[in-house]
Amino acid sequence: CGIVGYTGHRQAYPIVIKGLKRLEYRGYDSAGVALQQDNKITIYKKKGKVSDLEDAIGTSNISGTTGIGHTRWATHGEPSDRNAHPHYSASGKIAMIHNGIIENYAQLKTELEKKGYSFKSDTDTEVLLNFIEEIKTHNNCSLEEAIRIALKRVTGAYVILVIDDENPDTIIAARKGSPLVIGVGKNEHFLGSDASPMLEYTKEVVYVNDYELAIVKPDELILKNLGNEKITPYVQKLDMELADIEKGGYDHFMLKEIFEQPTSIYDCLRGRLDANAGSITLSGIEQHADKIINANRIIIIACGTSWHAGLTAEYIIEELCRINVEVEYASEFRYRNPIINEGDVILAISQSGETADTLVAIENAKSKGATILGVVNVVGSSIARASHAGVYTHAGPEIGVASTKAFTAQLTVLTMIALKLAYVKGTLSMHRYRELLKELDSVPEKVAWILNHQKSIKRIAEKYKDAHSFLYLGRGYNFPIALEGALKLKEISYIHAEGYPAAEMKHGPIALVDENLPVVFVATKDTYHEKILSNMQEIKARKGKLIAVVTEGDEVASKLCDDVLVVPEADEIIAPLLNVIPLQLLSYYIGVAKGYDVDKPRNLAKSVTVE
Ligand code: G6P
Repeated sequence: CGIVGYTGHRQAYPIVIKGLKRLEYRGYDSAGVALQQDNKITIYKKKGKVSDLEDAIGTSNISGTTGIGHTRWATHGEPSDRNAHPHYSASGKIAMIHNGIIENYAQLKTELEKKGYSFKSDTDTEVLLNFIEEIKTHNNCSLEEAIRIALKRVTGAYVILVIDDENPDTIIAARKGSPLVIGVGKNEHFLGSDASPMLEYTKEVVYVNDYELAIVKPDELILKNLGNEKITPYVQKLDMELADIEKGGYDHFMLKEIFEQPTSIYDCLRGRLDANAGSITLSGIEQHADKIINANRIIIIACGTSWHAGLTAEYIIEELCRINVEVEYASEFRYRNPIINEGDVILAISQSGETADTLVAIENAKSKGATILGVVNVVGSSIARASHAGVYTHAGPEIGVASTKAFTAQLTVLTMIALKLAYVKGTLSMHRYRELLKELDSVPEKVAWILNHQKSIKRIAEKYKDAHSFLYLGRGYNFPIALEGALKLKEISYIHAEGYPAAEMKHGPIALVDENLPVVFVATKDTYHEKILSNMQEIKARKGKLIAVVTEGDEVASKLCDDVLVVPEADEIIAPLLNVIPLQLLSYYIGVAKGYDVDKPRNLAKSVTVE
């Protein structure tokens, strides 16, 4: 979910609505706003996107200089007007929005029901809100005090923003586990799940920490811990521009972000890779390099697309550095009592830096003595802060829900880490090391080449858009790229797609192959090339439709295929970075051809801050 708040001298509604639109990547099944109007709180809310809420509000009286807003990704209760946030307390005098999950809500609800409370929604949020109100009434204390007492009883994750009738220009906020940023302006304050809602108003921000409570008024920001002790807010300067989060002439954020990749990869390499001097500087992890090369093993933890970057890195690090690597889904790792020793190094990969499963998994590993390195895109995010050290991917804000430029930036960082470790460990010849630095240096240019040759991809997308299912196959470094290609397609076109190791295909998925099944091979020239050509023959013999990512000039592979997606020649270690680009474009154009909202695919959220 995304949350926004404003209190100051301007009209809150337009600021909150614009902020919510920027945060829709965090969820978009319902939206709502609560405004302080004439000493009472008015709530407007609606199932659907923020624009549906705007249409519903129309020309109503929406003035007010203090307001909060929410865009939801349902956890408790179906998406509906009733379950949309904000919620009123039983008395109607307090309103609240919430991002996260209250795990012990059932118990709290039973307690409240016994006291005569009834609930208008199915949400855990309304339970917490009434719990707060009950404490306030029962103890005859301030709202702030009641919130503090309530939060001590709550298990789970939350960011909450609360407003009440008695203090019309005050927003009380608290966080544990979900992100909260406060923008500091002149006689005004902004609140958001990230800094995007406040970008045009202020560059001064405070990142609120877990177990902190903020009392926010136009001219005052008080931070406290749950023990009611004041904390001095640490004001930081934002390094983000408005242009970074706007579409800039592209039809969709996803397309813009795909086309940004020559620049985002270049930005990621800048100041770190010097191919001429033969050096890689990763100041974030430099002091841990010895520890990493001597690690028992590196455990990579991530979710979704970031997990695919991790899987690719396993192949690369093991090959170049001869260090044992394991790749884990954060959600599995955190619950299965994993064996972790002090000599283990955890590499957490996350675009948002807020994925709840990844965050908890690294906290568990940290408590067992492991060293945590983060490969994160969002500066100052929870995972970045929970890591001992790390390397930012510097891809810039990624708004499209299906990850593209963040993935290639992750792979770029991971490849640099592998090369750096191989250098320190001495597992590569100087010749091979320098050759790979040059190859990595040429990636932005080669990505630009692929993007300039994308016209055929649109035609191919049109041709296959009505298929019911796709199979994606690759071997070695390109097996994770096949997984990522399949994930991209299902995310935005809702076509079932399965990624598989090309050779393993004959142990099951081959039964699916007939003249209606498009099979996408990642078949660029590498160590496994002859082998994958045989796998392609196996599909062709069963009349599957063959589409393949092939190296420019590879006549043999091209002749086998119904359609090809051409990429320039590259070393096999670097090739995954290039091979994913045509697969991103293929998914994009299929999603668009099917008429779907590719930036906001159904049921998904960009940043999953619930487990
Ligand atoms: C969500 C997003 C995916 C992303 C995954 C992990 O499911 O929709 O695109 O790969 O979370 O997110 P992270 O921010 O940790 O990389």
